[in-house]
Amino acid sequence: MELDRRAFFASMGGVAALSLMDSEAKADVLEHHMMMQFQTPAAIPGTGGTQKFPTVAEIDAQIETRPTRRGAGSLFTSVRGNVKKLPPMPEKPTLIDFFNLRFATTRNHCLQSANRAMKTGMTEEIVLACLLHDTVQEVMKTDHGWWGAAMYEPYVSEKVSFAIRYHQALRFYPDHAAGYEYPDLYKRMFGEDYVPPKYIQETYEMVKKHDWYMEARLVTVNDLYAFEPGVNPQLEQFTDIIGRNFKQPKEGLGNDNSPVAHMWRTASHPDSPL
Ligand SMILES: [Fe+2]
Ligand SMILES: [Fe+2]
Repeated sequence: MELDRRAFFASMGGVAALSLMDSEAKADVLEHHMMMQFQTPAAIPGTGGTQKFPTVAEIDAQIETRPTRRGAGSLFTSVRGNVKKLPPMPEKPTLIDFFNLRFATTRNHCLQSANRAMKTGMTEEIVLACLLHDTVQEVMKTDHGWWGAAMYEPYVSEKVSFAIRYHQALRFYPDHAAGYEYPDLYKRMFGEDYVPPKYIQETYEMVKKHDWYMEARLVTVNDLYAFEPGVNPQLEQFTDIIGRNFKQPKEGLGNDNSPVAHMWRTASHPDSPL
């Protein structure tokens, strides 16, 4: 991605302000700026532009140019320098604690998505699904719909986990009536000639006929337009919905012996060597 130097310096308060920062702070603001550029309306379908997108073969050729793998794990790697020591988790962690102490990368995107769902009057289950839909990417990106649904299944309604699981497949298929177009972002990430694998195609065909199709579809609708620079909704906005729709285990997430407790422990303690 090319950097618009003038816009970058202007957004940081000018060259003078930037020169006062240490290199770590500069790396932070640069990354933030690049993320914001990536999330501007130009990346949203229907907003025009003649962009050149990579092919699947070009995306493939990038694999051996990176020190990390694109799909597996955010908590375990660092895009610059060494990782930071994480703050300790409380003895009995709640979903709110994970949002505040561990979901650093996905938090704002998910809050923006839930905020849009709430503003457009969607059901509490849709708002919750939007709030949770990508948080599992803190530990796993590949097949994140399935991983995310598994992580939340013991604690939310079936409809919510359905929406989380299948938003992953529906992202590859436009639904004009619902207001979802194939995102330019995926042409960039997967290659412009990308064809989703067979299991995604079959899942789409199944979900399309399902009574809860719109539950998963609405996650994708809110997902796409959730990339709003400068919009930072607060978690407090959703506390009541979480309270009514998320079955917080009294022992704390990770301590309740549920079939997915290990996933929460992984998010809690990513520095554990084994
Ligand atoms: Fe997603
Ligand atoms: Fe998302």
